[in-house]
Amino acid sequence: MKVKIRQETEADHKAVFDIVKAAFAKMEISEHNEQFIVDRLRKTASFIPELSLVAYLDDGTIVGHILMTETTIEDDGKSYKSLVLAPVSVLPEYQHRRIGSQLIVAAQNKALELGYASIVLVGHEHYYPRFGYELCRKFGIKMPFEAPDINCMAIELLPDALKNVKGTVQFDVAFFQ
Ligand SMILES: CC(C)(COP(=O)(O)OP(=O)(O)OC[C@H]1O[C@@H](n2cnc3c(N)ncnc32)[C@H](O)[C@@H]1OP(=O)(O)O)[C@@H](O)C(=O)NCCC(=O)NCCS
Repeated sequence: MKVKIRQETEADHKAVFDIVKAAFAKMEISEHNEQFIVDRLRKTASFIPELSLVAYLDDGTIVGHILMTETTIEDDGKSYKSLVLAPVSVLPEYQHRRIGSQLIVAAQNKALELGYASIVLVGHEHYYPRFGYELCRKFGIKMPFEAPDINCMAIELLPDALKNVKGTVQFDVAFFQ
């Protein structure tokens, strides 16, 4: 299903809150607080308005949302700029129609346009590899919390962007409050 994608505006916040809440409502591996995380992240320095995108239908109804926020990968005094993809949400009744895929590709393209060369995430091992995500382990990148290796992934938006990057991803405290 082809949808249109645009940057989120303030007027979308309520709809986005409802979509994120509904998308994660039935997920077992979730604390069901992702909608609050999005609200908090908007108020942090890591928020990049151009990387908070909504997917909408011809009549304007918003059916999906994606957020990427700025982060760094830290290694022994060295710091590398990157992005965290989290969360991506599609209304349950619109899932499995490639809307999530369109949001991910659009956000990746925008990230590249903005000068970012890599993205990291913690997510489902069967979903993200199709977009080019590989295991963080391969790059020597670690998450700052316990998470199964197979769920920790990163993508190089430019060839070899992570070749000389290793270390621990820094997550904004807004993810955990
Ligand atoms: C994950 C999500 C964003 C994908 O969006 P979507 O529009 O349904 O996905 P697409 O149609 O682009 O892709 C469909 C694929 O996603 C997979 N998929 C859908 N939901 C999934 C989920 N919760 N976990 C893992 N894979 C999922 C399907 O198995 C399908 O794979 P297939 O093509 O091999 O059958 C959406 O299903 C969603 O909002 N899920 C609940 C919230 C969530 O899990 N967010 C991601 C956290 S890691």
